[in-house]
Amino acid sequence: MNPIQTEVAIIGAGPAGLVLARMLQLQGIDAVVLERRSRDYVLSRVRAGIIEQPVADLLVELGVGQRMLADRLVHDGVQLQHRAGDGMVRNRIDFAALAGKTVTVYGQRELVRDLIGLREADSLPLRFDAEVVGLDGLSGDRVAVRYRDEAGEHTLSARYVAGVDGAHGITAQLLDAGQRQTLQRSYPAAWLGVLVQAAPPSHELIYSRHPEGFALASMRTPEVSRLYLQVPAGDTLDDWNADRIWDNLHRRLDLPDSPVNEGRFLESSITPLRSVVHRRMRYGRLLLGGDAAHLVPPTGAKGLNLAVADMAQLSRRLGRALRHGDASALEGYQDSCLRRVWQVTHFSWWTTDLLHRLESDEFGDELRTEQLRTLADGGTLARWFADSYTGLPLSPWS
Ligand code: FAD
Ligand code: PHB
Repeated sequence: MNPIQTEVAIIGAGPAGLVLARMLQLQGIDAVVLERRSRDYVLSRVRAGIIEQPVADLLVELGVGQRMLADRLVHDGVQLQHRAGDGMVRNRIDFAALAGKTVTVYGQRELVRDLIGLREADSLPLRFDAEVVGLDGLSGDRVAVRYRDEAGEHTLSARYVAGVDGAHGITAQLLDAGQRQTLQRSYPAAWLGVLVQAAPPSHELIYSRHPEGFALASMRTPEVSRLYLQVPAGDTLDDWNADRIWDNLHRRLDLPDSPVNEGRFLESSITPLRSVVHRRMRYGRLLLGGDAAHLVPPTGAKGLNLAVADMAQLSRRLGRALRHGDASALEGYQDSCLRRVWQVTHFSWWTTDLLHRLESDEFGDELRTEQLRTLADGGTLARWFADSYTGLPLSPWS
């Protein structure tokens, strides 16, 4: 039997794969999305919560923004908290005044649900429980994408393959770190995150640098909080019972007039902090993007946003190659992504270093406290922070 044919095979139905599929659809390009997990699993994964303004605008332009516009919270500032004398101070960074931009609070889970809903409503190919196990012919005219589902092994024949299969996908196994020219940094810390049925302590996010470690109070809705604690790398959820979690959240976040509200845990997870950049993002007809190409620690709220920025580049370049016969458009893909990747990698590293307690270091503590005071002054550093957090401009996607 001849293999099924498509123009672009997309490995992974995360935000990157689903956004790319939508962009290709709007350019009239066929794609098949293959996802190794079940539909229910993909629809229940929690993860990101903050969408940059240029990315939110892009989602609206792609026709995916209807529910987001109705349900989102728009934030035009963020609170940075740190120790001052015997107490804690909280300072506001005013995004609207400093950068003329805002961010959208809307869960990754909801965005993924919207993208899947649209694709299914248009009856376009999206296969769950379909795990890609191999790629043949990356330097030829077509790639044979081998995948496995409950009926057995199949082959999909594609002109190009988008490797957007996250940090633990098949592309990482097919290509070794040397080939990928990988640079990375690990941090001796992880984030313990809990989704809680309780109102957030403030109407804005609170990032707290505390002598016992970083904490963050975020949210999904006015009734649901998303709270994070810095914990030692290697800790598991078994090391943290509910009392210990609440105790630490109160100590690191509470101010007398805005304590963290306790409630039922709806989900909990632990995420290690890592920065990874694979400097090579193209292997013949395979193009990598999103978490498969780079990872940032979540402090700057950037991973999903960076994944979408890659896809804007990839979509336009695939359009040139497939609709205008200009395959050379793909040669510039990696260079056009890497500038933003390094800017965002720097921002995520800088915010992580600023807000976490990664080692016992009084000299460093003083330097970081001074940076937090300088941010509160609202000058050049605050403008850079506000501009980076709310999002750098995106390049056109078509
Ligand atoms: P993924 O979402 O990982 O999707 C990859 C998909 O590929 C998965 O569904 C996987 O199952 C599938 N796959 C893997 N292997 C195969 C295979 N062999 N065959 C088929 N399918 C395969 N980012 C932000 O921008 N803002 C935030 O506020 C933010 N907060 C975060 C908080 C936490 C706690 C965490 C963990 C992350 C956060 N992020 C945030 C990062 C963001 O969640 C990721 O960067 C984003 O999910 C990357 O999208 P992706 O599509 O590249 O990868
Ligand atoms: C989240 O709400 O999940 C979130 C918010 C801000 C971050 C990271 C995660 O920096």
